Amino acid sequence: MSDTYTLYNSTVMDHFMNPRNMGDLKDADGIGEVGAAACGDIMKISLKIKDGKIEDARFKTFGCGSAIASSSMATELIKGRTVEEAMSFSNQEVVSALGGLPPVKIHCSVLAEEALKAALEDYQKKRPSVPAPSRTTQLQPMAV
Ligand code: FES
Repeated sequence: MSDTYTLYNSTVMDHFMNPRNMGDLKDADGIGEVGAAACGDIMKISLKIKDGKIEDARFKTFGCGSAIASSSMATELIKGRTVEEAMSFSNQEVVSALGGLPPVKIHCSVLAEEALKAALEDYQKKRPSVPAPSRTTQLQPMAV
C-alpha cells in the first residue's frame, strides 16, 4: 500500500473501503448538507425518525477517505438513538469509534457532526416543539 493509506488505521480503512449506510433515504424526516470551507468537501446526512428515535440514517459524501469513513461511522453510531441524545452528538465519538484520525483529518469528523446537526435542525424546523441541537463548531449549511 502507498504512504497515503498508512495515514489511516484499519478501522478507518474499512469504513472508507466498505462504507455503511451510503445513499439517500426516501421520505427522510431530516436532511442536512454541509460543506467544509477549508477543503471544499461536502457531506449530506438523511434521517428517518419515528417516535422520537432515529430509525435509519444514510449519507452521501463528496470528499476524502476520512470524510467517507467519518460519515459511515457517524450513521452507524446514531441509529437507534433518540433525537434528544443525537442533539449532543460530538465528532469526538466518531474519532474514538474509528480508533483515531490523523490531526490534519479531524475536521472531516467535524463535518459528520455538522451534517447530523443540520439534519436534526431540518427535522426540528418541521417540528418546532423539538429543541435545537448543540454545536461544536459552525460550518457552512448548504441548500438541499
Ligand atoms: S479533507 Fe476535508 S473533509 Fe476530509
